[in-house]
Amino acid sequence: MKKVITADNTETFLNEEVKETYHSQTGAVEEALKKYAIPCKIKEKAETGTLRILDVCFGMGYNSAMAIDVALEANPCCQIEVVGLEYDPEIVKKIQEVNPPINFFQHYKQLTPTNLEFQKDNVKVKILLGDARETVKQLSPEYFDAIFFDPFSPKTSPEMWTPDFLKGMWRVIKTTGILATYSCARMIRENLVKADFLYDDGPIVGRRGPGTLATKWV
Ligand SMILES: C[S@@+](CC[C@H](N)C(=O)[O-])C[C@H]1O[C@@H](n2cnc3c(N)ncnc32)[C@H](O)[C@@H]1O
Repeated sequence: MKKVITADNTETFLNEEVKETYHSQTGAVEEALKKYAIPCKIKEKAETGTLRILDVCFGMGYNSAMAIDVALEANPCCQIEVVGLEYDPEIVKKIQEVNPPINFFQHYKQLTPTNLEFQKDNVKVKILLGDARETVKQLSPEYFDAIFFDPFSPKTSPEMWTPDFLKGMWRVIKTTGILATYSCARMIRENLVKADFLYDDGPIVGRRGPGTLATKWV
């Protein structure tokens, strides 16, 4: 896997099979903060004292590690639980080869394909290694405050953007929860509606289109 330096000077890798990078080339760490942590209201949710994040397509975990930084800055005592869904042990190994400017990422270095969970003070992190379409079934309903939904593109990984898989997201997110994804493709938004989500534009960060934010009907 070839390392790529993105426009905010942070590292990612190129996946040769799908010919996509693991993060936006306009800025890997910027994307974690501006497309996921901020729009999912991580700071506000951390202030309530508990925070549960589902990091779908965990990769090297930039999105949730950044959210932990934001949450701990808002409330150092917040009880935080992150569950990551990832099927490729090779990308989990790559955590050792990157050093994004995210404070909590130093603890993510404990994660390897044979050590898939750790606890650091009030923060628990666990990766469920396997096809997310299966592992999602192990999760409790109405559990997560935020879902970071970050598969490869709908073009290369259509199986990750189906109404069926999105219904799995619907099952595990709280009624107050927010799902964020980088894609604004019409088909994706239609599939979110088929899965009973409402959607809205997410922020525009380094791309022409906005991302998408989804919540449950209430
Ligand atoms: C765009 S990258 C995500 C990058 C990641 N969020 C990060 O911060 O490093 C997409 C990820 O989805 C994973 N993936 C692809 N298909 C999957 C599946 N069926 N189940 C779980 N993970 C999958 C890939 O291995 C890859 O790590």
